[in-house]
Amino acid sequence: MDKKITVVGAGNVGATTAQRLAEKELADVVLVDIIEGLPQGKALDLAEAAPIEKHDAHLAGSNTYEVSEGSDIVIITAGVPRKPGMSRDDLLNTNAGIVKSVTEEAARYSPEAIIIVVSNPLDAMCHVALKTSGFPKNRVMGMAGILDSARFRTFISMELNVSVENTHAFVLGGHGDTMVPLPRYSTVAGIPITELLPPDRIEAIVERTRNGGAEIVGLLKTGSAYYAPASAVAEMAESILKDKKKILPCAAYLQGEYGINDLFIGVPVKLGANGIEEIIEIKLTPEEEAALKKSAAAVQSLVDALK
Ligand code: APR
Repeated sequence: MDKKITVVGAGNVGATTAQRLAEKELADVVLVDIIEGLPQGKALDLAEAAPIEKHDAHLAGSNTYEVSEGSDIVIITAGVPRKPGMSRDDLLNTNAGIVKSVTEEAARYSPEAIIIVVSNPLDAMCHVALKTSGFPKNRVMGMAGILDSARFRTFISMELNVSVENTHAFVLGGHGDTMVPLPRYSTVAGIPITELLPPDRIEAIVERTRNGGAEIVGLLKTGSAYYAPASAVAEMAESILKDKKKILPCAAYLQGEYGINDLFIGVPVKLGANGIEEIIEIKLTPEEEAALKKSAAAVQSLVDALK
């Protein structure tokens, strides 16, 4: 293929992302991990599925970065996932060290790449990637909002017994307990859910969305979600590589937008060949604005706690 994506971290999220990218024939995929044999083994296994899945994406695995050279996109999933009882924030300094070293290496071999961060705590890890790479802000972003809104959409479709394809949902803010789902911008076939559901049911769905990650961690017990996160990151990669200019909620570096400065936070952006091509500012009610500010303050305190 004429495009190349490197996925760093060949664990649950990384390997599943590689699978989605290859099966969509978006690019050749390089998996990098520190565990000897792991990225090589998963890449080979995925390559051996290709004749059956009918794609021609090449897959390679490595413990070093030479083979990642010239990647169009670098997806960072390296790090440790949550265990039951842990918040994403508990991962802060362990994953910051990992994301820093990964970014240094990946950026050296792919200086023109667009970086998509998946490692948690997401918004703070985006800061680490931006500062370490020295890349312009349009080329560093985080995956969270698509996942959070996909969870919101799933619960809306379950509640109303309608196709997930008819649902649209909006989630702003940091990828954590302070995320800000926006029911009035969340619709079924264009109709706001505020017209379709009573406030108590909406509140229950919003709460389940906020705890969506923890719900999975609680069930799995040994790790966190990966199928839906991989789908979400693949949607971002597709919009970039095909220059689709989709409006998607992503963690973006704000400099004044929404009254927030020098901070990554989830907002709607236009994703195209140049990465984040535009940050879309929507009008918020005073309550929504207050919730977004609260979420931004939570992200800021994590950034301040980075050693
Ligand atoms: N370089 C490359 N790979 C690394 C490094 C490093 N410095 N440090 C750790 N890894 C690898 C691990 O060896 C492991 O294979 O990252 C992989 C992480 O995989 P999992 O433990 O399966 O975790 P996963 O569920 O994929 O989650 C990864 O994504 O959603 C977030 O919160 C989650 O931060 C976590 C990340």
